[in-house]
Amino acid sequence: MAENSLRVHPKGYARIDSLGKTYAPEGKTVRALDGFSLEIEGGSFAAVVGKSGCGKTTLLKCVAGLEQPDRGKVIFRGGKIGIMFQDPRLFPWLTVKGNLALALPGKEKKSPLLDETLALVGLEGWGGAWPRQLSGGMAQRASLARCLCRKPDLLLLDEPLSALDSFTRTHLRKELEKIWRRLGLTVVLVTHDIEEAVYLGDRVILMDRGKVNREFNVPLRRPRDFRDGSFQKICAAIDSAAGNLP
Ligand SMILES: Nc1ncnc2c1ncn2[C@@H]1O[C@H](COP(=O)(O)OP(=O)(O)OP(=O)(O)O)[C@@H](O)[C@H]1O
Ligand SMILES: [Mg+2]
Repeated sequence: MAENSLRVHPKGYARIDSLGKTYAPEGKTVRALDGFSLEIEGGSFAAVVGKSGCGKTTLLKCVAGLEQPDRGKVIFRGGKIGIMFQDPRLFPWLTVKGNLALALPGKEKKSPLLDETLALVGLEGWGGAWPRQLSGGMAQRASLARCLCRKPDLLLLDEPLSALDSFTRTHLRKELEKIWRRLGLTVVLVTHDIEEAVYLGDRVILMDRGKVNREFNVPLRRPRDFRDGSFQKICAAIDSAAGNLP
């Protein structure tokens, strides 16, 4: 694709083009990605659902550049890509702020940006705490802050809420939506939870065996209501499509 055509897209735009990735541990080959293609508009929120092992984490790693695909390419309009995993992965020997600072180049380490980002995720005043003093939800907030302080244009989230209890998960889901809107981020969220996908996504992408099986638009006003008939209808459609996969 020509550079010129990229310029018309706002920051955060990405085009994932026929990605293929095969792992070959001990001689047996596993095709984790098998022609995955998706176009992501800047500022949008895409939610990816699919069975365990269908290639979701591999997809995010390839988009983030942590894994090299065997074929296909990712075209990205913007500066940085941030990725966050299911577990917070904070360094236990650094404070919360120390963990954030590590993600930044030298001159920004002491900027007000760190405090601002902590406030944004609801961890105001917790910069001096040690990771072991945080609850699971707080640790995920810290992990999100570490991603956000680098000011990514595209944020890749790999089941960031799955390990949390349902109260914390419901709360952080709302927070995540607010942060996405406030910062004008582009987000790709991987989740096992269809309701979470429909709550957050502009679209829900059902993935199967390394590629897109189906896309579902979610044309509902935000913030969304789980008890809404139209909300439940979309969930049921995705659930049924997922259930019909081999
Ligand atoms: N580093 C690796 N070496 C070998 N095989 C791998 C590696 N990473 C992933 N795989 C295999 O690739 C396939 C896709 O894995 P991936 O982690 O992307 O799935 P996933 O959709 O994220 O699953 P889950 O929902 O359980 O997190 C699986 O069969 C997995 O065993
Ligand atoms: Mg995974």
